Amino acid sequence: MDKFIIEGNTVLKGEVEISGAKNAAVAIIPATLLVNGITTLENVPNISDVKILCEIMKKLGAKISWISEHSLKIDTTHINSTNAPLDMTSKFRASYYLIGALLGRAKRAQVGLPGGCNLGARPIDQHIKGFEALGAEVDVSQGKITATTKKLVGAPIYFDVVSVGATINLILASVLAEGTTVLDNVAKEPHIVDVANFLNSVGADIRGAGTDTIKINGVTALNGNHTYSVVPDQIETGTFMCAAMASHGDILIKNCIPEHMDSLTAKIIEMGGEVDIKDDTIRVKYNNVINPVNIKTAPYPGFPTDLQPQLGVVLSLANGTSIINEGIWESRFQYTAELNKMGAKITAQGTTAIFEGVEKLVAAPIYASDLRAGAALLIAGIIADGETQLYNIHYIDRGYEHIEEKFKKLGAKISRISNYDDYAN
Ligand code: EPU
Repeated sequence: MDKFIIEGNTVLKGEVEISGAKNAAVAIIPATLLVNGITTLENVPNISDVKILCEIMKKLGAKISWISEHSLKIDTTHINSTNAPLDMTSKFRASYYLIGALLGRAKRAQVGLPGGCNLGARPIDQHIKGFEALGAEVDVSQGKITATTKKLVGAPIYFDVVSVGATINLILASVLAEGTTVLDNVAKEPHIVDVANFLNSVGADIRGAGTDTIKINGVTALNGNHTYSVVPDQIETGTFMCAAMASHGDILIKNCIPEHMDSLTAKIIEMGGEVDIKDDTIRVKYNNVINPVNIKTAPYPGFPTDLQPQLGVVLSLANGTSIINEGIWESRFQYTAELNKMGAKITAQGTTAIFEGVEKLVAAPIYASDLRAGAALLIAGIIADGETQLYNIHYIDRGYEHIEEKFKKLGAKISRISNYDDYAN
């Protein structure tokens, strides 16, 4: 296990380059299972979720190699198994995309029940309902999901809840199905549009990604020998925007897509921060005040749940009381107990948390409970008085590439202690 030791009181200043989006990459890599031949993916984040996914793809018979730091060459010509290794797939959430992709390719998929961050109940009933509507039989037992069919036939599918995973999984399962699939009440996140763009670039016929309804006309094959670049990471961009405000800093964020950030940009301006937007850069500058604001997380274009903890750090330092209402995950306030150890005044109950702003956070030993909580606590350590020890940083490594290097370039003082043993002495 690794931990971070963070010397605090840092005002973050300078430039940072955003990596490719985790939640797009972990869907596009399985999507290559639907392609005949070789796909080259560029701007792939070098993070642990991507590495595990590549290992799983290799076990299915794919040939995968990194041809540069951020480019993956994936050859799916010789896929020889539809059984994804259960121990590996149950380690992370996005393994559920292997079901849609294998079902689409081989009419059979067996995958361990997906794991991932502990954010509360994470059902997959909408994925299953969709696969069944396309003609698959789905069995969930003994910790695994098995989906089989003789053929997939397009169908109308109305989702009861707006789900990122179910939307992408049903796109994957239906691109090679016979006839037309219409997905209604879908999620509209930038990574959904990116998955559809990738599939269309290799010959799929998907229309309407980014709106409430997606129409997929099945095609007979997707053609490889194609290069595609993954979209920049919306959540990493927002993490640095929050870090600029929380640290009273000034950060120029490069290689991002500013319009993906509208909900956070609006809140930063409401808090009194300065935001300067150019084509693919956002500069966020603290302007001597953090006004309290209220937010409610919601599917895109609403405020992203995956930025709620990072904004929570900013609000713990606002000039007054703010309220956050979490609309997606019931257990997303675990980080507030850690911030309270650092002197924050946050009362979290159910899906609501009340933040009474304090002047300063102070260092404490703190524990990340999930990926985004980890990012938020890292920001808290960077700004707090004293030396913070941040544990469970393997969560952060799942989704942020070279995070300590990026923060160090902005002035943070962070050391990674690898394989520590706290009881050694
Ligand atoms: N839901 C159902 N049934 C389903 C699927 C979802 O009831 O079949 C509910 C969930 O319980 C939740 C809501 O619908 O209340 C939204 O869940 P969604 O399916 O959209 O979430 P997900 O696909 O499991 C992805 C991201 C999460 C992100 C959420 C919401 C990936 C791999 N994960 O999860 O990202 O929080 O969408 O935007 O794309 C992260 O990156 O840190 C992360 C947790």
